[in-house]
Amino acid sequence: MQRRAVRKAVIPAAGLGSRLLPCTKSQPKEMLAVGRLPTIQHVVEEVVAADIATICMVTGWQKRAIEDHFDLSHGGLHALKGSAEELGVLADRDLNRRLFYIRQAEQRGLGDAVAHGEQFVAGEPFLVALGDTILYSPTEPRLLRRLLEAHAAADVCATILVEPVSPAEVVKYGIVSPIGPVADHGPTLIRDIVEKPAVEDAPSHYAVASRYVFEPVLFEALARTRPGRGGEIQLTDAIRLLLQEGHRCQVVPLQGAERRYDIGGFGSYFRAFCDMALRDPAEGAGLRAYLRGKLAEEA
Ligand code: UTP
Repeated sequence: MQRRAVRKAVIPAAGLGSRLLPCTKSQPKEMLAVGRLPTIQHVVEEVVAADIATICMVTGWQKRAIEDHFDLSHGGLHALKGSAEELGVLADRDLNRRLFYIRQAEQRGLGDAVAHGEQFVAGEPFLVALGDTILYSPTEPRLLRRLLEAHAAADVCATILVEPVSPAEVVKYGIVSPIGPVADHGPTLIRDIVEKPAVEDAPSHYAVASRYVFEPVLFEALARTRPGRGGEIQLTDAIRLLLQEGHRCQVVPLQGAERRYDIGGFGSYFRAFCDMALRDPAEGAGLRAYLRGKLAEEA
């Protein structure tokens, strides 16, 4: 069975970023650099590379720097010497014609942020990519493409990226309950999903990993989802509602060297920056030598 192609993405980026204070007092967390690029540019480049034609960014209070970032008119850019690639500027000069913004006036949770994309999505299947999480996917076919292909090939209302986490970490994530073992290659159906369960209640150790493909029926479920954990409208609660009503959802796991970098807390942000900087073609080797020296000093 072949479904309609996914041509649209919603990127929620309206969260307050309070875990990164004071860095987020006057700038969006999505503008924090990871290696040479702000986080949000990594996310947009990943989505564009998967041939998604148009993007709706959900922004809000103090997020205007994100919109400015995707302009090409900054005087300084023209003054700088070097190719667009060297400067880390998106090569796709028409991108701004396909980037739309909607404001979430009150931060009522990820589910509410996604619900703001309903008019933009206009009845089509769509991708959700969290604006504060980068995916590193070094081999072909890239992760996002695998996710989109798995969705196109199945009769499901959602295809969710997941990754295994340690038993102690399940309390931080949405955790899925798969029907049978999660296959390394290919999708697995799930029977349930729970937001931040207690360790003893976790139905598995597979956590949702910040990328989802949905059919538009999600919006009907979001409209019926009441505030849950933390008083927020949780995306996982809407997915749970769909499952309870008999809709099918599947998960696709990260593989091999693929990594998810959530920059929402200092620990994971530091690790993301470190990994990305170590992979930098120009500076990575020098940084690695510096760190080796540092660690040897401390040993
Ligand atoms: P988080 O759960 O990290 O929440 O959001 P947060 O508000 O951004 O950060 P803290 O907890 O205050 O530190 C996960 C994703 O959902 C988006 C965020 O921008 C991020 O991409 N989000 C969250 C929204 O767009 N709106 C919301 O109301 C909440």
